[in-house]
Amino acid sequence: MVRKLKPEEQHWCIDPETGEPIINKGVANVCIDKTTISFIDGYHSKLYYRGYSIEDLAKYSTFEEVAYLLLYGHLPTKKELDDFSGWLKENREIPDEVVDLLFNIPPDIEPMEMLRTAVSYLGNLDPGRHDLSRDGIFRKAIRLIAKMPTIVAYFYRIKTNQDIVEPDPRLTHAENFLYMFHGKMPSKLHAEAMDLSLKLYAEHGMNASTFTTVVIASTLSDYYSAIVGGIGALRGPLHGYANVLAMKQFEEIGSVDKVEKWFKENIETRKKRLMGFGHRVYKSYDPRARIYGEVAKKLADEVGGDVKRIWDIAFKLEEVALKSKLAEKKIFPNTDFYSGLVYMALGIPVDFYCTLFALSRVVGWTAHILEYIENNRIIRPRIFYVGEVDKEYIPIEKRG
Ligand code: CMC
Repeated sequence: MVRKLKPEEQHWCIDPETGEPIINKGVANVCIDKTTISFIDGYHSKLYYRGYSIEDLAKYSTFEEVAYLLLYGHLPTKKELDDFSGWLKENREIPDEVVDLLFNIPPDIEPMEMLRTAVSYLGNLDPGRHDLSRDGIFRKAIRLIAKMPTIVAYFYRIKTNQDIVEPDPRLTHAENFLYMFHGKMPSKLHAEAMDLSLKLYAEHGMNASTFTTVVIASTLSDYYSAIVGGIGALRGPLHGYANVLAMKQFEEIGSVDKVEKWFKENIETRKKRLMGFGHRVYKSYDPRARIYGEVAKKLADEVGGDVKRIWDIAFKLEEVALKSKLAEKKIFPNTDFYSGLVYMALGIPVDFYCTLFALSRVVGWTAHILEYIENNRIIRPRIFYVGEVDKEYIPIEKRG
C-alpha cells in the first residue's frame, strides 16, 4: 500500500522535542569539522587567517607570505619565504599541450569555463596526479598556484590576438601576473593592488567552493578533481561570479544620478538581488569590502575617467542600500562589491574578474583539503524524504 513515511523511519532527522524534521537548508550553521585556518567573526566585521587579522595581513604582508601562512600554518621565516617564492617562480611555465589547448578553446568561452578545462587538463598531464600524500598535495598545489595566473594571462592574450608574454622569474606573483597580462611592467600602485586582492580572496572558511573541494577530496578522489569542482562552484553568481555581476550592475545603472531610481525599481520593487551585498556569515560590513573600497577609491582618483564614474555609482549605491531595508536585514557590502573596481583600474576586462578570485582562492581550497583529509571522513549528509513509498510498479503499457 502506498504510504508516507512515519517520522521514526527517519529518526536521524527528527527533533525529539518537537517531532519536526531538523533541516539546515543550505547547510547553514552546520560545522563539518574543526579548523585552524581562518575565523570569520560575522557580527563584528572581523576576519582572521591563522589568527592574524586581515587588516594586518593586508597592510604588512605579501601574497606569497599569506599563501605560506595558510598552507603551512605559520608566518614564514625569511629563508622559508625565499624558498617558497622560488618554488612558485620555478613553476610558472605551463606545458605546451596546455598552451595549445588555450589556442583551441573558442574565444567566446568564458574565462572561468576555460580555467576549469585548463586545470583539468593540467591534471591529466601531471604524473603525480593520484598521489594523495601530504607532500604530494603540497607539490601539486605549488605547481597549480604558480601556473593558474599564467593560464589566465595567456588566455587573455590569445583571445585578444596578442603575443603571449612568458613569466619573468624576477617578479613577484602579483607583478608577474600583471606583466604577463598586459605585456608591460605594472606600476608600484597597481602591483600592490593586485597583491592586496590576492591576499583578500585567498581564504574564507567553509564557503561553497571550499566545501565543494573538501567534499570531493573526502571521497579520496584526486587533488585536481577537487580544484576543478571548486572552480565550478566559484563560478556561480551567488558566489565568486558576483564580482563580475556587481560591475555589470554598476554599468547598467550608467551614471550616479540614476542610482536611486535604479535601486527603487530593481531592488525594492522587482526584488532583485543587489550583487556584492549580503553574506551567509557576515551580519555586519565585510572587512574585505572596506579594504577593497579604500583601494578602489585611491585607484579611481588616480585613473579617473570611467573608473571614477563607476566608483561614484558604486559609492552612491552603497549609500542608498545602507539606508534601505537591506541594512535593517543586516545585508551589507561583501568582498565582491568593490573588487571589480580595483580590477577595472588595473585594466582587466570584466569577464576575467572571477578567474582572479580563483587564482587566489586555490590557496584556501588547498589548505582545507589538506586539513580535512588529515583526519578524513567521507562527507555524506542526509536529506529528509517527503515522498511516498511502497508504490505499485505499473508496467509501461498500462501507464496512462
Ligand atoms: N540583495 C537583496 N536581498 C538579499 C540579498 C541581496 N544581495 N542577499 C540576501 N537578500 C535577502 C533575501 O532575498 C532573503 O530575503 P527574505 O528573507 O525576505 O526572503 C534574505 O535576504 C536572506 O537571503 P538568503 O538567500 O537566505 O541568504 P543566504 O545567506 O542564503 O545568501 C548570499 C547569501 C551571498 C547568497 C546572498 O546574500 C546573495 O545572493 N547576495 C548577492 C550575491 C553576492 O553578492 N554574492 C557574493 C557573496 S560574498 C563572496 C563570495 O562568496 O563570493
